[in-house]
Amino acid sequence: MAALVRKAVFPVGGLGTRFLPATKALPKEMLPIVDKPLIHYAVDEARAAGIEEFIFVTGKGKSAIEDHFDHASDLDAMLRSRGKAEAADELNSWVPAPGKVAYTRQQEPLGLGHAVWCARHFIGDEPFAVLLPDDIFLADVPCLKQMVDAYSGRGGMVAAETITGPDISNYGVLDVAKDQGSVVSVRGLVEKPSPADAPSDLAVVGRYIMTPKVFEYLDRKETGAGGEIQLTDALSWLAVEEEFAGIRIDGERFDCGTQAGYLRANVAFALQRDDLRDGLKSYIRTLDLGA
Ligand code: G1P
Repeated sequence: MAALVRKAVFPVGGLGTRFLPATKALPKEMLPIVDKPLIHYAVDEARAAGIEEFIFVTGKGKSAIEDHFDHASDLDAMLRSRGKAEAADELNSWVPAPGKVAYTRQQEPLGLGHAVWCARHFIGDEPFAVLLPDDIFLADVPCLKQMVDAYSGRGGMVAAETITGPDISNYGVLDVAKDQGSVVSVRGLVEKPSPADAPSDLAVVGRYIMTPKVFEYLDRKETGAGGEIQLTDALSWLAVEEEFAGIRIDGERFDCGTQAGYLRANVAFALQRDDLRDGLKSYIRTLDLGA
């Protein structure tokens, strides 16, 4: 049976000013967690969920992302000439096949909804995923795979996480119609509400599945929170038109859009590595961590 969700959109046009000066000449999506760029984690996760076509919505200064997902013949030849065929094969193993990756530019920074709208002609008439590379997950079953496995093939679905306190205002928040445990049915979403106005404590975290019906709303170019064209507003409209679910993700999420989350992710992912774990643990044990 053909996979229900075959295409994924990666909005990578953002400036990453929080990480200056690192992001002056480097796309923020290329910042490494241990030794792999953030965007690479999102692409691996998409592939593990059955995604076959990868659509990047880019902007100025993002060509390093295209180079990263391209065949590098010079590097390949150099590694082979030095007897490192295995390393060369590894580098080739995750490069998308010709024609399976597309790049389009979001010409103006008009918001996440606008970025997704820029990918509309690549999507055609089938449900698709959106992955925000700032959020990465440590999970036995990759986040998007958990979603695809639970997706009915109709309507939309978002990854959700409970956020307590004022931080809820940094997220899209679910208006829950029925809470069925790991999956909740959703009647609407609100982008970055004040804590008092948040319809629940369930926030959207960086992974989405939606039908192309969402473009009917995005075509209108209506602006929302922050004067931007918000994906959350389009999904709130979709939740009225079609069935819509949130799924509590089994695993740990790292918000690599902040320095603190980025640092935590580096530690957590390094501790997963057999070649780094012991050394890192011994270093941490030597630290005087205070109270
Ligand atoms: C975006 C979305 C928001 C979502 C968040 C998840 O916000 O607009 O709805 O909850 O990603 O990380 P941003 O973090 O780009 O401000």
